[in-house]
Amino acid sequence: MVTKIHHVGIVVERLDRAYGFWRDTLGLPLVRQAEIPDQGVRAALLAAGESEIELLEPTTPDSGVARFLARRGEGLHHVCFETPDVDAALSGLRAEAVPLLDERARQGLAGRIAFLSPAACHGVLVELATPPHGAQSQDSPVRLKRLVIGCREPHAAARSYQRLFGLPEVAINGGARCMLGWEGGGTLLMVPAAEVGDVEGMVALSMVAPEMAPLAERLQRAAAAMLVGAAEVTVEPRSSHGVHLHISRYHFP
Ligand code: CO
Repeated sequence: MVTKIHHVGIVVERLDRAYGFWRDTLGLPLVRQAEIPDQGVRAALLAAGESEIELLEPTTPDSGVARFLARRGEGLHHVCFETPDVDAALSGLRAEAVPLLDERARQGLAGRIAFLSPAACHGVLVELATPPHGAQSQDSPVRLKRLVIGCREPHAAARSYQRLFGLPEVAINGGARCMLGWEGGGTLLMVPAAEVGDVEGMVALSMVAPEMAPLAERLQRAAAAMLVGAAEVTVEPRSSHGVHLHISRYHFP
């Protein structure tokens, strides 16, 4: 039913400032920016390999995104899965009485989109999107790899994501964690909430880059708060608009 992580949505205070980190420092190319009045947001999509990063700035104080910002500050907001037919997906979910925020698909930045209720996905806000025909992924120096989700019961959460979206399981060494998704199309790593500060929901983002040195240099120039290892960088949330961000070296085939 779904084919990849289309994007991960991040709420920011100001889009122009968020470009400073996500576009200019990380180097993610801007795909599209638009104002979406019915959602009370100004939004941008940036290419991140097979997936994208969506930045969302509230434009009205009563929007869901404005309430999120007031309550939790900047940070990870939703995950969007690509599906070839969002209307069919939605009617399938409706038939199973899955709680939805959008009863009907509507036009969004990523194409025809619809949101499920967070109650459907263990506290994670999930969006489904069918991009316009001919939409192509752009090359980018840093790619999205994995979204880490804190869960009371990772295996139960993984089973419901499999049931709702048909997400394939990625081989992993047993234990308390589960990984779903696609090598190349983005994965979800479900971990026990106790391992991530007792947080339920999206807690961190992992990205990969073929070359760490130029990236580390750009981060240093931007005075980003980070820990630098031989083949990885961990950026602190205060420098990445509330996102725990881990970037490691990876050579793309
Ligand atoms: Co979105």
